[in-house]
Amino acid sequence: MLDGKHITLGIESSCDETAVGIVADGRELLANVISSQIDIHTKFGGVVPEIASRKHLENINRVIDAALGEAGITLDQVDLIGVTKGPGLVGALLVGVAAAKALAWTKGIPLVGVNHMHGHIASNYIEHKELEPPFMSLVVSGGHTNIIMVDDYNTCRKLGSTRDDAAGEAFDKVARVIGLGYPGGPKVDRAAKEGDRDAIPFKRVYLEKGSYDFSFSGLKTQALNYINTERQAGRPIDVNNIAASFQEAVVEVLVDKAVAAALEYGQKRIVMAGGVASNSRLRELITERAGACGIEILRPSPVLCTDNGVMIACSAYYAYRKGETSDLTLDADPALEF
Ligand code: KG4
Ligand code: ZN
Repeated sequence: MLDGKHITLGIESSCDETAVGIVADGRELLANVISSQIDIHTKFGGVVPEIASRKHLENINRVIDAALGEAGITLDQVDLIGVTKGPGLVGALLVGVAAAKALAWTKGIPLVGVNHMHGHIASNYIEHKELEPPFMSLVVSGGHTNIIMVDDYNTCRKLGSTRDDAAGEAFDKVARVIGLGYPGGPKVDRAAKEGDRDAIPFKRVYLEKGSYDFSFSGLKTQALNYINTERQAGRPIDVNNIAASFQEAVVEVLVDKAVAAALEYGQKRIVMAGGVASNSRLRELITERAGACGIEILRPSPVLCTDNGVMIACSAYYAYRKGETSDLTLDADPALEF
């Protein structure tokens, strides 16, 4: 406890960030420490799971200490430990889970295993103090693309998901094809600002009528075919135009489906989450199209869109309040569903 407030420490290690966040009474941010491995994985053009696990192991204790320092508290003041149990890279997840269990056991602190995707949605509770379920959510990250009906803090219904590549994965793949490198999302976002979004007619894939599922795997092939055709014709490749046109094809489908879901389910708010939610064109277009239908858009600031421990702490707090706890048999679940 700190000044009578309940303190939750959240640990996130599902992919390439070792992150620890601390919140008071579930939603007040006291610390957000993120140790990113992006520089290391950039050399390999993507996340190398074995390296990620080793780096988490090297970093985890230091990141926990730094978060406690930032919050100005000691472990004895922590009332609850939350940790990402999945989905993610199994070796990476195991480091966070083992650290959380060790802390919980040695200090006698309750423990809650958190679904990483629930965490992404919960990142919104930190910055939007008035936000309470129900609401519609668009969760777009490197591994997932989902439209989720959030009924209450602990109950989510998955209305749609990707049938192949996640939106972030598509950004990363196309970035590689056009030579922008890893991580692709922010680089495509930047290049697209200088390009013409109508330059290349990339297909908008909506699947069956009324479906909230997505398919982005064909876009990489389309980008490759376009580049080959242009090269064979001896025309110069305009990376900015490809970035802008590709981005528009992804973003339009995301926006149209999220808005349609909100309308069908009578929701007046769409809450965005996940790394791709920081995409500037996605933010712009969804605000415009949802706004035209009287729907409000909420999203975390970019630092809370990508992986962090604060969102895990917040999600753990609400699960704990509902009576959920994990014991020391808690294990990583790399393929955990929403
Ligand atoms: O949520 P996140 O940090 O990790 C996962 O849980 O996957 O999302 C990372 C993904 C990466 O694919 C990255 O390229 C993408 O989010 N991303 C973006 C932007 N910033 C990050 N994609 C498009 N535009 C951005 N500005
Ligand atoms: Zn994530």
